[in-house]
Amino acid sequence: MTDLSALPADFLFGAATAAYQIEGAVDADGRAPSIWDTFSHTPGRVAGGDTGDTACDHYRRWPEDVALMGSLGLDAYRFSIAWPRVVPLADGRVNQAGLDFYDRLVDGLLAAGIEPFPTLYHWDLPQAQQDRGGWPVRSTAERFAEYAAAVGERLGDRVTHWATLNEPLCSAWIGHLEGTMAPGLTDLTAAVRASCHLHLAHGLAVRALRATAPGARIGIVNNLSPIEPATDAPADLAAAVRADGHVNRWWLDPVLGRGYPADMRAEYGVDLPLRDGDLELIAAPLDWLGLNYYFRQIVADDPHGPAPRFRQLPGPNPRHTAMPWEVHAPGLEELLVRLAHDYGVRRIFVTENGSAYPDTVAPDGAVHDPERADYLQEHLAACARAAARGAAPAGYFAWSLLDNFEWAYGYDKRFGLVHVDYPTQRRTVKTSGRRYAELIATRRTGAGRSG
Ligand code: IFM
Repeated sequence: MTDLSALPADFLFGAATAAYQIEGAVDADGRAPSIWDTFSHTPGRVAGGDTGDTACDHYRRWPEDVALMGSLGLDAYRFSIAWPRVVPLADGRVNQAGLDFYDRLVDGLLAAGIEPFPTLYHWDLPQAQQDRGGWPVRSTAERFAEYAAAVGERLGDRVTHWATLNEPLCSAWIGHLEGTMAPGLTDLTAAVRASCHLHLAHGLAVRALRATAPGARIGIVNNLSPIEPATDAPADLAAAVRADGHVNRWWLDPVLGRGYPADMRAEYGVDLPLRDGDLELIAAPLDWLGLNYYFRQIVADDPHGPAPRFRQLPGPNPRHTAMPWEVHAPGLEELLVRLAHDYGVRRIFVTENGSAYPDTVAPDGAVHDPERADYLQEHLAACARAAARGAAPAGYFAWSLLDNFEWAYGYDKRFGLVHVDYPTQRRTVKTSGRRYAELIATRRTGAGRSG
C-alpha cells in the first residue's frame, strides 16, 4: 500500500518529454540543425548510430499522444520547445511555422484539460549558435533571451508554468567537460564558462518572459544527487564536499542568490566570465524550482584525477536500472527536504524521475514492466514522506511519457510509461502506465491511497 495522503490536495500528476528525444521531423517547417543533430550524425558518438531524425514522430502524431495523456488521467505535461524550430539560424529571424507547432500542441493540451509545462531549453542549441561559439560565449545567452521573448509573446496568453533550462549541469559538465553529450568537448575552461552563460541565459530569459508573459510562473530545472562519501576517511569526506559542490551547489547557489561556491571556484581555477549585475540577474526571483532525481552518488577521492577530483562508485543496493543507475528512492526525499529546509525553496516540482528497463512486447500484446511500476510508486511514496516532513512537492512528472531517444545511449534505453515500437510507431501503455493511471484515479476519488 502506497500512502500518498500527505501530498497536497492540488498535487499535479504529470509526465515529461523533450523535443529532440521525441519530435523527429528535424527538417520540417523551417527547423535548422541543432548541436544534437550534428553530434548524433557524427560516427561513434551515439550507440548504434541512432539519431533523433524520426524519434517518436511526435511532431506529426501529437494528437494521438495527447489522447494517450488524457487516457492516463494526467494533470500536466512537461515538454520542451526546440530553439532550432523557433529561431533556426544566426540571423535572429523568428520562424512562425516552428512556433505554430507548439501553438497547436498547447491548444490541444488545454482542450484535453492538461496543463502545458514548457521548458525553453532541453539541450538542442541551434548549430548556428554553436558555430558562433556556443555556451562558452556570452552572446549565446543574449540570443537565448530573444528566443524566450518570441516564445513568451506567442504562448504567454495560454501557458502559466515555464521552465527556462533543463539540467544545465548536463549541458556544461557532460557536454563541455566529459564530452559524451553535444557539443562533445573536454575542456574545463569552456565548461565553467558555459555554466555561467547558461545561468545568465536563465536570468535573461526570466526577465524576457516576465515582460512578454505577465502571468508566467517561472522556474529552472536542475538534476541533483545526494552525495555520500565511500568511507569516513578524511580524503573521501573532502571528495564528497567537492562532489556536492560540482553536482549540487554550483547549480543551486547562484540561482538562489548565494553566488558561486568559493570552494569550487578555487577547485576549478577558472575566471568566471561575469560582469557587474550578472549575479543579480542570475538570482532573479523564481516562482518554483524543478528537481530531476535519478540516483544518489557515492564518491571517493581521486587525488590524481582532474578537477573536481572525485570518482563515483557503484551504489550498494542490488536493484539497478538498465542505465545502470542504483534504485534509491530515499534520495528523492532527502533532496526535497534539503531544498525546502536548507535552501528555503517554497515551491518545488519533481520535474523528472523514472527508470529504464529492457521492455519487450509480450505475445499477448502487453508490456509488463513491474520494476518500473514499483519504482514509480516508491518515488511517489518518497514525495509523500517529504511532504510529511514539511517539504511537499507541488507535483511529479514521470520521465518519460514515451520511450524515446536517450541521447548517447540511443533508443536502446526505454524510460517510457508508454512503449514505442519504432518501426511502426505503435504506442502501447505499459503496466507502469496503467499503475500510474490507477493511482491518479484513486487520488481523484479522494481516497489518497493506492496499492
Ligand atoms: O532522458 C533524460 C532527459 O533528457 C534528461 N534527464 C534525464 C533523462 C534520463 O537520462
